[in-house]
Amino acid sequence: MKKTIAVLPGDGVGPEVTKEAVKVLKKVAEKFNHEFELKEERIGAIAIDQTGKPLPKATLKLCKSSDAILLGAVGDPKHDNPSLLIRPEQGLLKLRKSLELYANIRPIISFTGVSNPIFKPGFSQNIDFVIVRELTGGSYFGKPRGRKDNGQTAFETNIYSKEEIIRVTKVAFDLAKKRNKKVTLVDKANVLETSKLWREVVGEYVKDFPDIILEYMYADSAALNIIKKPKEFDVILTDNMFGDILSDEAAALTGSIGLLPSASIGKQVSLYEPIHGSFPKAKGTYTANPIATILSGALMLEYSFNLIEESRAVFIAVKKVLSEGLGTKDIQPANPLQTNTIGDKIVEFI
Ligand code: IPM
Ligand code: MN
Repeated sequence: MKKTIAVLPGDGVGPEVTKEAVKVLKKVAEKFNHEFELKEERIGAIAIDQTGKPLPKATLKLCKSSDAILLGAVGDPKHDNPSLLIRPEQGLLKLRKSLELYANIRPIISFTGVSNPIFKPGFSQNIDFVIVRELTGGSYFGKPRGRKDNGQTAFETNIYSKEEIIRVTKVAFDLAKKRNKKVTLVDKANVLETSKLWREVVGEYVKDFPDIILEYMYADSAALNIIKKPKEFDVILTDNMFGDILSDEAAALTGSIGLLPSASIGKQVSLYEPIHGSFPKAKGTYTANPIATILSGALMLEYSFNLIEESRAVFIAVKKVLSEGLGTKDIQPANPLQTNTIGDKIVEFI
């Protein structure tokens, strides 16, 4: 199989972790006889510094003409002032909107060999659920937005159409069909009009799937239950803002946000990136965990290229590394290995 992959390393530890994921993809290509053509472009702070724009035209062009996109992270302290007009995050948001990456899949999985000191021993084992977050709608993009009253009042528009809800619902149900057949719709239908529409649309949609259990949960209650009873979730379906907040919370369950990948499904091309950010403090130290990005590559193999066996090979290699007690500082503080050493180990196990 021949595929073109756009690689956007971005900022902070982005380039370090992306490098390892690229190594792993190249190994998969070699072992399974595929040809992956990898082309790199700029996004985020590095793009602002070099071109003045967080998402240069050349980057968008490359993404549009590729079969899939691998992204590291965006964000840099130098640009981290919310009042700045040009910010690294705009690059990512513009990319999501331009490519209509409407469904963000965030698997929350725990791994044997990774302990989580926040919780009682064993609590974090066997956690396995997925958050499906709507990614191009809601208050992130709704118009009008801005300031009035001489800047003394600020507002956003939280807006969803039936069509936007249905397409992300389909992604969640397709996942649930292959999993434990339970979807939890997370919203604030006791307060928000958009949430009421979500309930109407999803409640209608489920009628065609008698074997899927649909459960409704308010977002505040979901925040509580993700910590109290994480094993009761299978697929969480939610809007852009709730999904952003709850997925960071859920990531804390598994021991390190540095382990969790994500897939953003688009109409034509999809994007794969770790859940974590650019972690600027660790930049250049080769201490960041590359596994979230490596597993994002595995999701790419499965969702964009339908290379199931190849994707599984990456997951198995990652599990083996972790079960042997190997890891970067976030998960093995007493005996940490470097970013590139973990990448090499995974390549070796593949
Ligand atoms: C994420 C991030 C982004 C978001 C930021 C960087 C704009 O937190 O992907 O979860 O809020 O969506
Ligand atoms: Mn986030």
